[in-house]
Amino acid sequence: MTVRVGIAGAGGISRSHISGLAATEGAEVTVVQDLDLARATETAATCGATATDSLDELLDQADAVFVCTPTAAHRPIVEQVVGRGLAVFCEKPLATDLAEAEAMGRAVAAAGVVNQVGLPLRRVAAFAVLRELMRDPDNGPLLAISMHTISRARDKVLAGWRGDSVQAGGGMLIEVGFHDVDLLQWFGGPIASATGQVTPGTHAGIEDAATVSLGFAQGGTAALTAAWNAAPVPGQSRRIHAIFDRAEYLLEYDGAHRRLVADGPGERHQEWDGDALDAAALEAGIETNPQAAFIRAVREGGPASPTVADAVEVHRVLDHVYRAAHGS
Ligand SMILES: NC(=O)c1ccc[n+]([C@@H]2O[C@H](COP(=O)([O-])OP(=O)(O)OC[C@H]3O[C@@H](n4cnc5c(N)ncnc54)[C@H](O)[C@@H]3O)[C@@H](O)[C@H]2O)c1
Repeated sequence: MTVRVGIAGAGGISRSHISGLAATEGAEVTVVQDLDLARATETAATCGATATDSLDELLDQADAVFVCTPTAAHRPIVEQVVGRGLAVFCEKPLATDLAEAEAMGRAVAAAGVVNQVGLPLRRVAAFAVLRELMRDPDNGPLLAISMHTISRARDKVLAGWRGDSVQAGGGMLIEVGFHDVDLLQWFGGPIASATGQVTPGTHAGIEDAATVSLGFAQGGTAALTAAWNAAPVPGQSRRIHAIFDRAEYLLEYDGAHRRLVADGPGERHQEWDGDALDAAALEAGIETNPQAAFIRAVREGGPASPTVADAVEVHRVLDHVYRAAHGS
């Protein structure tokens, strides 16, 4: 069976989904929809799909829909997609606040459709290999994780809809730190407590930085510092240090430079650079193409991962942090 894929919102992230889908067996992008028909036409031309500005036309021609609009527009589209019983891949964040995200979670659960969220770091070799190491029971209990994230494209990013908190729901924390909180819940399990502070930026309601303190239900804590700035070097960097009772792991990741150092249980010291991480992911059988993982779930009847329910949990954490930061 070939899954007919529709794309709602034909901007930057839609292009990366189209390229992942091109490398996916059993998927065909049949229709691209955008309120801006010229944009839909331009993006549709990259994959031989039909272009439209009508959501109904999109829904008529698809078995599964990627929702790639600005954040504030996700909910009405997701609700119509799942209302028709179609599989849905929604970009992160789900919504601009927790109440909207929870409503989406209820709609998706009630429809019972295959669903996945755009949290691709879970399928990046470096993070996936780190998680495999962290799951070794010989590590002993998790004590603490520290995570530092920097994104250097702030001014370019804020020139578009992300400069409007009504469209984006906030700044660095919800737009980029969402990935980090999700990685932390993926590494350490459900998060039982969350608080934090934010550094306001120049745009109302759009923070430049956040420091977040988390407690895991299974024990152990995490401290996340996430910031975006206007440094001229493009890209994002992450540094993760995970400390267990009998092991520690350190990952430095900025796309071009990738280095994972493991001081595992039993004095096992190992280091991986660059391509060795890709090889380790391959050896561990990790699917590194998120679009392929979603399409396989649709063809096989699910489940996909990470789900809308996983993303609702991230929104729950962010809600605690924003409330603590704003004293509300
Ligand atoms: N997972 C990731 O790593 C990642 C990376 C980038 C963006 N995103 C998310 O993807 C979403 C889109 O971001 P982007 O960078 O592609 O934005 P973008 O501005 O490049 O593209 C958004 C497109 O949606 C269109 N649009 C706006 N409202 C619409 C509506 N109601 N119906 C149909 N089309 C509509 C716009 O005309 C535009 O073409 C955001 O939620 C963003 O946070 C996720």
